[in-house]
Amino acid sequence: MSPEPPNTRANRENWNTTSRAYQKSHHRELEDDVLWGPSMPPERDLKVLGSTVTGKDVLEIACGGGQSAAYLAEQGARVTGVDFSSEQLAHARAHVESKKVRVRFIESTVEDLSILEDSSFDIAFSAYALGFVEDIRRTFGEIRRVLRAGGLFAFSWMSPMYAITRDGVFELKRSYFDRTPIIFTDESGTEVDFHRTYGDWLRALTETGLVVTDILEPEPLPKENTYADIFPLEKIRMIPGTTIWRARRPRVLEL
Ligand SMILES: C[S@@+](CC[C@H](N)C(=O)[O-])C[C@H]1O[C@@H](n2cnc3c(N)ncnc32)[C@H](O)[C@@H]1O
Repeated sequence: MSPEPPNTRANRENWNTTSRAYQKSHHRELEDDVLWGPSMPPERDLKVLGSTVTGKDVLEIACGGGQSAAYLAEQGARVTGVDFSSEQLAHARAHVESKKVRVRFIESTVEDLSILEDSSFDIAFSAYALGFVEDIRRTFGEIRRVLRAGGLFAFSWMSPMYAITRDGVFELKRSYFDRTPIIFTDESGTEVDFHRTYGDWLRALTETGLVVTDILEPEPLPKENTYADIFPLEKIRMIPGTTIWRARRPRVLEL
């Protein structure tokens, strides 16, 4: 096994340290839905994952506290969740037990899905996690590998335009073109976010053989969210806070 890169380790340790506080603040809002982003409309309206997940094999990439995984299992999907934080997974296991559903959880970085078989999922998705992942091409390559031909992949992250603004206010903090990681350090540790432009995300997806079918920027619901320090409603009504990408593994690999 290759050694854990320093940024991955910093993020994993930070998630382990902050998991309890994170779940305390956000658990209720994350429950009973796939929350694609702060103040985003619910999945039952957006249908990013398609009209139904019933009977489908679904992989959640960086599943956190398991709320989305449990919700999809309740809809009749066979769900697997991968996350590198043992603390987040402890919450996830307790959560699915409380919901009386079955979800398979795997503790791993999402850059290495070798424990999963080729072509074994109809849907893979991730809500607000892939900006923490350093080797995004390797991750997308793994996702493409485990998806069946024609399988759907969707993920959300902070919009690249939003990521260059200061928290809570209408001011720029850095250049859109600056790809150096955005680092937040406080008493709980260090969080490393990998800034990618729209073109960077697009190329990382397409160069690994996925075909992008949509970029969704839903307008926020008229209600505040529990991330209002970063995503106050007043601001995300003016600039999209969240981008949702939708892609497919083609039936025949187009080179
Ligand atoms: C914001 S949560 C996403 C889960 C859920 N959708 C939510 O919003 O709470 C981010 C999750 O990504 C996980 N994560 C970040 N980088 C990861 C990596 N390289 N491999 C596996 N999990 C990762 C963290 O442990 C955390 O549980």
